[in-house]
Amino acid sequence: MNLITPRSSLRALTRLKSQFLRPPDLLRSTHMRNLSSTPILTNRKSNPSDNDNDNNNDPNLAATTKAPKDTSPHEGRFARTDENVQIPYPSDSEMPAQPVVQGRGGMHFKRTLASFSLENKVSLVTGGARGLGLVMAQGLVASGSDLAIVDLNRTEAEEQAGKLIEQFRKENPGIEQMPNITAHYADVSDPSSVNTALSEILSKHTRIDNLVTSAGFTENFDAINYPFDRMKKLWGVNVDGTYLFAIGVAKHLMERKAPGSIVMIGSMSGAIVNVPQPQAPYNASKAAVTHLAASLAVEWAGYGIRVNCISPGYMLTALTRKILDENPQLREKWISLIAVGKMGVPEDLMGAVTFLLSDASKYVTGAELRVDGGYTAT
Ligand SMILES: NC(=O)c1ccc[n+]([C@@H]2O[C@H](COP(=O)([O-])OP(=O)(O)OC[C@H]3O[C@@H](n4cnc5c(N)ncnc54)[C@H](O)[C@@H]3O)[C@@H](O)[C@H]2O)c1
Repeated sequence: MNLITPRSSLRALTRLKSQFLRPPDLLRSTHMRNLSSTPILTNRKSNPSDNDNDNNNDPNLAATTKAPKDTSPHEGRFARTDENVQIPYPSDSEMPAQPVVQGRGGMHFKRTLASFSLENKVSLVTGGARGLGLVMAQGLVASGSDLAIVDLNRTEAEEQAGKLIEQFRKENPGIEQMPNITAHYADVSDPSSVNTALSEILSKHTRIDNLVTSAGFTENFDAINYPFDRMKKLWGVNVDGTYLFAIGVAKHLMERKAPGSIVMIGSMSGAIVNVPQPQAPYNASKAAVTHLAASLAVEWAGYGIRVNCISPGYMLTALTRKILDENPQLREKWISLIAVGKMGVPEDLMGAVTFLLSDASKYVTGAELRVDGGYTAT
């Protein structure tokens, strides 16, 4: 009878172990430290209050999640929104007018790629009566395009169309062919208004080749207190408005079997959260615009319709100037966070939009071009 004693089973086990364990495993097993013997750094002191004092005196540890409590009034101050910053979008009568850009257009004899030219194209710019839309529109005219300005404020759009023609004439003395520049009313968030504007534009220009959706706005309320009707309006203009004009123009291009280019104006706010002004719905609306551009680019690639997005950073328009005059503390904060240390001006978008609408970017679609002085690169 084979008797198994505790001593013999231990011997058998040891034999088995030495048979199956390879040398490194053996090495590891002999050097294995009992977990309970690992000293717990934070429990070194017998008195917990001594420990807290230690952490408080270590500025590096105090700057980590190991800090027992907030040790500085400055913690997170550059990365937080401030609910006291509240800036409603002004009513139309309070909106400042944007001057047309002086002395940058006109004929020149510098050698450049012909593919950047927009000659024989018709471009439509929504929100083109003011701000970035107006200046981008001027850049398109300087690059050879005809232009249809669409805006909620028809009077302002008509006045600015007149000024653009006047400026063009001044910068191109003796030119035979003047650009065709027209102004049209539309509330971009309303499908029937969008369709009416599109047929009006087609009756004046016969076709549309390019679209820039610049109608959009931001305002600042903390999320809890954001008036719901204002949030819906913001989404209606920024997201629905972009979508409605894009599908209207794409449908027209598909019917004509013509190629075209669409540039949606997003914002760096679609990728980062601005501080200190709280603007959650705006940020989300701009993230929607960026992804809408990519999604439609894929959907319409087979029709030769390119869709891209320009995401500007802080640009000094007539409206941002008014906001900064009323809230000067924002200016310092903003420029401290921009890598190039400066806000942009609307003219900084002229080249970007011309590039994306022209054949120079024939193979670019679904892209986001950030024009933000490096804000989102840091
Ligand atoms: N200014 C900036 O610093 C900045 C930065 C990033 C992105 N953006 C974006 O650029 C675009 C243009 O901004 P901006 O600074 O030129 O603003 P802006 O207020 O100066 O101009 C916007 C224009 O859109 C028009 N508009 C507003 N609602 C409309 C509607 N429902 N239908 C038709 N037109 C309407 C306004 O009448 C105005 O003429 C916006 O989409 C904005 O979010 C601006």
